[in-house]
Amino acid sequence: MEQWVYEIDGNIPLTGEAKVQGSKNAVLPMLAASILQTGCVCFRNCPDIEDVRCMLQILQYIGARVRKEGEELYISCEQIEKHEIPAKLAGRMRSSVLLVGALLGRMGEAAMRYPGGCVIGQRPIDLHMEAFRALGSSIWDQEGLIIAKGCGLQGAAYTFPRVSVGATENAILAAVCARGETCLHNCAREPEIGHLCDFLRKMGADIKENGAKICICGKKKLHPCTFTVPADRIAAGTWLIAGAATRGEIALSGAPVSEMQALLELYGKMGGQYEVKSGTLLLHSRKLSNPAALVQTSGYPGFPTDLQSPFLALCATINGKSCIRETIFEDRFRAAAQLRRMGADIRIHGRDATVYGGILTGAEVLAEDLRGGAALVIAGLAAHGHTKVSGIGHLERGYMELCGTIEQLGGRCIRQKAN
Ligand code: EPZ
Repeated sequence: MEQWVYEIDGNIPLTGEAKVQGSKNAVLPMLAASILQTGCVCFRNCPDIEDVRCMLQILQYIGARVRKEGEELYISCEQIEKHEIPAKLAGRMRSSVLLVGALLGRMGEAAMRYPGGCVIGQRPIDLHMEAFRALGSSIWDQEGLIIAKGCGLQGAAYTFPRVSVGATENAILAAVCARGETCLHNCAREPEIGHLCDFLRKMGADIKENGAKICICGKKKLHPCTFTVPADRIAAGTWLIAGAATRGEIALSGAPVSEMQALLELYGKMGGQYEVKSGTLLLHSRKLSNPAALVQTSGYPGFPTDLQSPFLALCATINGKSCIRETIFEDRFRAAAQLRRMGADIRIHGRDATVYGGILTGAEVLAEDLRGGAALVIAGLAAHGHTKVSGIGHLERGYMELCGTIEQLGGRCIRQKAN
């Protein structure tokens, strides 16, 4: 297979305006949810990224018809015929697991191999399975094949023993067409869950959200709708951090500012300035110079784990000592080893990273996961000299037109064949 790389010339402050893409983590559960109705749903602002293409392939495999018309994506779900997802498709992404909840709702059964996705920790699915059981499904692991059966799911009260974004989404998907009422407690509160509920409500679902409690009155049938995918808070955060690492001045149109408060507060403390003008987030990073005392990742509205690696790269450009604690995934500091190749002084002790920032220099580095890859691109943009990032397939799972956006912001990043 042909290998592609990003070639980056760094040390150029990013300046200019870019539009924030549609949200990956919002649209993936919505795509799974679209099979809960039997007509044709239309998505606007769906990001054109590899994870979406992969989810669409799975939907087509089970019988959906997918077509693109200009900016609109149509998914017809009249004939969903299969309930088993082959390993080669399921293994390509974590979100394939969301089809278990959706298929239970639609077909009363589902079977798939363990989901793939970024290698950032163990990522078990026990919480998903427990929630399905609470709704009356039987689900078991048959030599690596997850089999779920649950004709006529029955609403129930269920408290998640630990908070999980995916398990909350999966339980919602299974519950919207179950009989009776479901009350889920200790749910994740990430905005993407609210967006999924908005989408389901637009299809006729009866869902009430109240913080970590979500109550659903099952409906026999949902109907088609047209839905605009909201902006991606993690992509917006990534661009904010890229602007900060290069001490640039960028504007992000359509940035979901209300979902970015933890990052913006930190950015302000580090010396960044921002304002919002008619839906555009204006960011001035020229005076940004303060290291971060202690940043700890946590569930929303805390600092997102998905921005931890990009933030690590930013800290590596700031003189002084910054500390970052990762509390969600146990193996999400992989980018640190690559950043060290660029001269970063990052010391990892378990879940803690200590960064002594300074000047980065270009190097050849390997992206090993999506956000870790974004960290390397950010470091490359800030570094003196030339950086070659390989493993860019990881980045293309979640970032749309990455090089184009960098060019638009006056940076230099070219995608080309590895030699
Ligand atoms: C979602 O993953 C996101 N993915 C991730 O974004 C994000 O990092 C994560 O939430 C946390 O915000 C999508 O939305 C598609 P979790 P998810 O279940 O649902 C443990 C990115 O870069 N856990 O909330 O898989 C788990 O191991 C991606 O865009 C269990 O123990 O995350 C982790 O430690 C990567 N058992 C913690 O919970 C389970 O059954 C949180 O995981 C499920 C999870």
